Amino acid sequence: MAKTIGVLTSGGDAPGMNAAVRAVCRAGLEKGMKVYGILRGYNGLLKGDYIDMNARTVSGIIQRGGTCLYTARCPEFRDIEGVKLGKQKCDELGLDGIVVIGGDGSFRGAADLSAQGVPCIGLPGTIDNDISCTEYTIGYDTAMNTAMEMIDKLKDTAQSHDRCSVVEVMGRNAGYIAINVAAAVGAEACITPEKPYDLDQIAKNMQKAIKEGKQHFVVVVAEGVGKTDYITKQIADITGIETRATVLGHVQRGGSPTVRDRVIATKMGFHAVELLEQGIGNRVVGMKDNKIYDVDIQEALSMKKPFEDELYDILQKTAF
Ligand code: ADP
Ligand code: F6P
Repeated sequence: MAKTIGVLTSGGDAPGMNAAVRAVCRAGLEKGMKVYGILRGYNGLLKGDYIDMNARTVSGIIQRGGTCLYTARCPEFRDIEGVKLGKQKCDELGLDGIVVIGGDGSFRGAADLSAQGVPCIGLPGTIDNDISCTEYTIGYDTAMNTAMEMIDKLKDTAQSHDRCSVVEVMGRNAGYIAINVAAAVGAEACITPEKPYDLDQIAKNMQKAIKEGKQHFVVVVAEGVGKTDYITKQIADITGIETRATVLGHVQRGGSPTVRDRVIATKMGFHAVELLEQGIGNRVVGMKDNKIYDVDIQEALSMKKPFEDELYDILQKTAF
């Protein structure tokens, strides 16, 4: 019997979400399923706001940032009453399963809805790469490339003016974007929530380099550290170098997805539909040892993710 599935995007948007939606839609149709696109995350489910998808609904979106299904946060879904209403709406629509593209919060909603009897599959969609069960999240590569390009530009002007550029990158409470981008731009220091830092030592390293003729610096700070202005002022006060702070902000969430994001999103979307086809729910699709796999949602939410200690160490040893 042909199944009916839904797909939604939830939480912060990420480049590559469209590629995942496209893959879910096309894979579902190819398997003879009916596919609904649920708009604005769980809000669309509760309000009955959805579109009936065909192959053309997802034409021309693979190269576009953002999400064609829109995204939102839905506070009602945090309560069991909201989830039960979600189950009722799924029954009304005849949904046999939903693919939820988002982060940890969205997966909690997916687990709750699965527990009510609607098989849900989570796909990791966030620029932060902070989802423990997967080595990779959709949007991460594009966001890092965007941040890298912007910092390259900041470096040009910092160099011309003999300045220090302190750049805050996104990542919520995680420093994965920060450490990788810092390595990619050749930053002199990187400050992340995962590692202790010593501003006096950073400033001393800079002062030593100044004596040896270096005149401009880049310091990458993860937003989760929460002290970009303080760090900027301290560096300026201790070193005497003119120091400017730049917060890259939401620009990191936009833009055309990279090859990596498009391909991984496509593979993950396809895998999610294969699971739903078998009636399997309550799983998160992720990447492990560079291969697509799936894992129980509760297990996924309880996993711990290691930080990039090796890269952090390399950065420390090659910064000057
Ligand atoms: P992300 O999915 O990127 O982590 P949020 O944490 O904002 O983003 O969660 C997105 C949505 O997922 C929330 O607005 C809510 O609808 C749902 N959600 C979040 N946490 C829970 C929870 N504990 N139980 C059920 N649903 C949740
Ligand atoms: O999770 C993605 C992300 O962009 C984080 O890097 C950032 O902390 C947060 O979302 C910002 O959320 P909002 O768009 O609600 O300001």
